[in-house]
Amino acid sequence: MVEIGLSARRAPWSPRARAAGVAAAFGGSGDVDESKTRKHASFAARLAKNVTGMVAPTRPCLLAGFLFLLVLLVAVFIYLSPPRFRASPSFEFSLVDSVDGLDSIASEFGILGVPRCSSKHEKIVEWTSMDLLKGLEEFVPIYETRPIENNKDGMGFDHSFGLWFMTRWLKPDLMIESGVFTGHSTWVLRQAMPNAPIISILRQHPEDYLGEGLAYVDKNSTYFPLMDFGDFENLNWEILIMEKHGISDFSQVLVFFNDHQSHLKRLKQALKAGFQHIIFDNNYDTGTGDHYSLRQICDQYYTRGGGHFCMKDDDEARIRERRKSLWEKAVGIDELCGMNNAWWGIRGHMNDNFNLSSEYISYFEHAQNHRFAESVLDVYWELPPVAGPSLTHQTRYDPARAPNPIIEDGRFDLFQRLGLTRLEASVFNRYTQMVYLQISAPDSDR
Ligand SMILES: C[S@@+](CC[C@H](N)C(=O)[O-])C[C@H]1O[C@@H](n2cnc3c(N)ncnc32)[C@H](O)[C@@H]1O
Repeated sequence: MVEIGLSARRAPWSPRARAAGVAAAFGGSGDVDESKTRKHASFAARLAKNVTGMVAPTRPCLLAGFLFLLVLLVAVFIYLSPPRFRASPSFEFSLVDSVDGLDSIASEFGILGVPRCSSKHEKIVEWTSMDLLKGLEEFVPIYETRPIENNKDGMGFDHSFGLWFMTRWLKPDLMIESGVFTGHSTWVLRQAMPNAPIISILRQHPEDYLGEGLAYVDKNSTYFPLMDFGDFENLNWEILIMEKHGISDFSQVLVFFNDHQSHLKRLKQALKAGFQHIIFDNNYDTGTGDHYSLRQICDQYYTRGGGHFCMKDDDEARIRERRKSLWEKAVGIDELCGMNNAWWGIRGHMNDNFNLSSEYISYFEHAQNHRFAESVLDVYWELPPVAGPSLTHQTRYDPARAPNPIIEDGRFDLFQRLGLTRLEASVFNRYTQMVYLQISAPDSDR
């Protein structure tokens, strides 16, 4: 398996520089679409220019008076503006001048903060935005041959791409998936690694869905039904992997969890079993989803973009309220906060197993869970959405809580060139921050 790389040198790229570089590499001009991004001179500035041009040569007093009036007017305008147009101390909230007006404000990525876990030694993944774009170009035609065309209740395009891309990059000798449904993810893993064995843990066999013509059963996958073998944690991985498949190095194994179980629970189990490479689907944002996710765990007052205040007259409450009408997964402050203003997890609860279990935890416990998670993380990487909502027409996840997309809004040329216009809009409606982790025992345990 390719060693994940470790370049602390590579700083996070600027979205615009990235878009420009990428466009150039893909045969475009390299220029960001100026019509969408250029700042237009404000009305006041233009007025000032015209009037000063008229009066300056003849009447200096009139000019001074006019400038005074202008400053007064601007001050009154700023004072009377609604709070969302003022600089907000809690969020990196900026208005982007754009011909799209309100729509572009609505889809602004990350304006409500994007909490992420930190890794022990600041390692980052080896792949770049360019690798992701090249991957997309390769994956679109593969995705078009999928056996399950409408994977309703399963992965859509974004996560299928993420799983395929990361698996192909890591090149595991063996893949384990927990949560199979009709087998789409098994098919994705198989496209990434045509010959490597797969172990699939499932509640219901995809064969059961075959009658409906909507399933994928893999010849080189061993299926473990829960009712015969129990959960992921009950399987004897040493025997299964070493004896059956002859693999002694667990760093050559990739584990994919798409079973809606608490990520904290799965993280501990995977660590105990000795696995190092994990991908989690359904990395739900705080206040959403049916299990305690890594994203929720790393949402803390002291993490970048993390923490929430339950006051209804706060900027966050106002911005959230407005976004609820735009994005299905956006939650208002009322939904985010439970008893005693508990906002962590799901209103202060650590949920598990499709919401079948729900346990209240104190903020102290939540912070402890965070400390534990970060003590075992060597790498944490959230897959960005494939493209901005003006391109995909997705209406589900709220961009305000998501990292910048691989293809930004306004880059229709690139979106089209990569073949993404050929896909139905519905396949883009399932993004939930899929995450890749590389893990190892806490430094103190070594
Ligand atoms: C969202 S679906 C999986 C989607 C699938 N990976 C795909 O291709 O899109 C979640 C699946 O997890 C299964 N499941 C529930 N509990 C599980 C458990 N403890 N272990 C493994 N699978 C489980 C459910 O039966 C369901 O089919």
